[in-house]
Amino acid sequence: MTPSINISAFRQSFIDHFGGAPRIFRSPGRINLIGEHTDYNDGFVLPAAIDRHVYIAISPRNDGRIRIAAVDFPGIHEGKVTDVEKSALGWPDYALGVLAGFRERGIEPSGFDMLVGSDLPVGAGLSSSAAYSCTVGYALNQVFDARLDRVDMIRIAQQAEHRYAGVMCGIMDPFASMYGQRGHLVRLDCRSLEHHYVPFNAPGLSLLLLNTNVKHSLASSAYNRRREECATGLEWVRSAYPDVASLRDVNESMLDRCVAPRDKVIDDRCRYVVQENARLLALCKDMEAGDLVAAGNRMFQTHDGLSRMYDVSCPELDYLVEAVLDRDGVYGARMMGGGFGGCTINLVSTDIIDDLVSELSASYEADNGRSLSAIAVNIGDGTSEVVS
Ligand code: GLA
Repeated sequence: MTPSINISAFRQSFIDHFGGAPRIFRSPGRINLIGEHTDYNDGFVLPAAIDRHVYIAISPRNDGRIRIAAVDFPGIHEGKVTDVEKSALGWPDYALGVLAGFRERGIEPSGFDMLVGSDLPVGAGLSSSAAYSCTVGYALNQVFDARLDRVDMIRIAQQAEHRYAGVMCGIMDPFASMYGQRGHLVRLDCRSLEHHYVPFNAPGLSLLLLNTNVKHSLASSAYNRRREECATGLEWVRSAYPDVASLRDVNESMLDRCVAPRDKVIDDRCRYVVQENARLLALCKDMEAGDLVAAGNRMFQTHDGLSRMYDVSCPELDYLVEAVLDRDGVYGARMMGGGFGGCTINLVSTDIIDDLVSELSASYEADNGRSLSAIAVNIGDGTSEVVS
């Protein structure tokens, strides 16, 4: 696991690069208990922020220039505040995308020096890119007194991902990063953005991430294709039910009538989304009633749907879910995030974690030829300034 950032060393690194006295901001990565691939279909999600972050140290300039460096990547991006084209270095692009979003809203920062650091693993499905964009947005907003609200900054982060990374992602990741609250899951309605906090603090209960260490390299094209498939199914439903605005409004009998007879793949994609929204609402009730067995079973069902109907799993993710299916102390498990790699999320009794991780690490490595990393999740707060 990436070691935690040491704030004084991070501040010193900024001073070594640029001089001056920076302000420091941070935004967390996220997990998601249930509600996968529902956000861009106007559905429900149940994420939480975690205690791993992307950090930005920043100080303003008055000459219209920007300099961006990173602790973990080589090179310094230097340019003008008006030049928000993608960088040849690649890693500054999210920051540039966010800057572009500010400029489009008529906010012209006067220039800045910026250092990026992180203790969030990249490519593990923990939304390091949303955390990065949210931190930059929040930092620019504070330093230049731009008075955007959190939803504006979330939209800017989402647009940066669309335009600068080419992934047509939904709103869940930046929302969880900005609005996370320690000890709570965030139940978000992705259509209205209405949200409320669901306590997650039962003694002896933990969330454990198991990282396949498969990087989701094909994910962006497949992700965009899933979005298109959902849009196609929606269009077919709308030809018979014009009042339907999104898959959120669709039920399975509409799919039986309008989609199943036309295309099995499109039907599977849409049916998974319809079922997943219902599962999330049911899981929230299970949690309220303290029925962890029922909640966990829904996570297993979600995995099954993501693997067989939505087709975004991979053999390593399936392996890790199957390995814990009948294991005492594991209530539920499923792949998490966009898919094709990254982590499974496991709802477990805290006291089985050590044995589970040591046994699974050995068998996973023997059977898959790669190592397994375990991450115990602590649910933390959303984006903030680091005051020291
Ligand atoms: C990625 C996207 C999110 C969401 C998930 C799947 O993390 O960034 O918007 O669609 O995949 O639930």
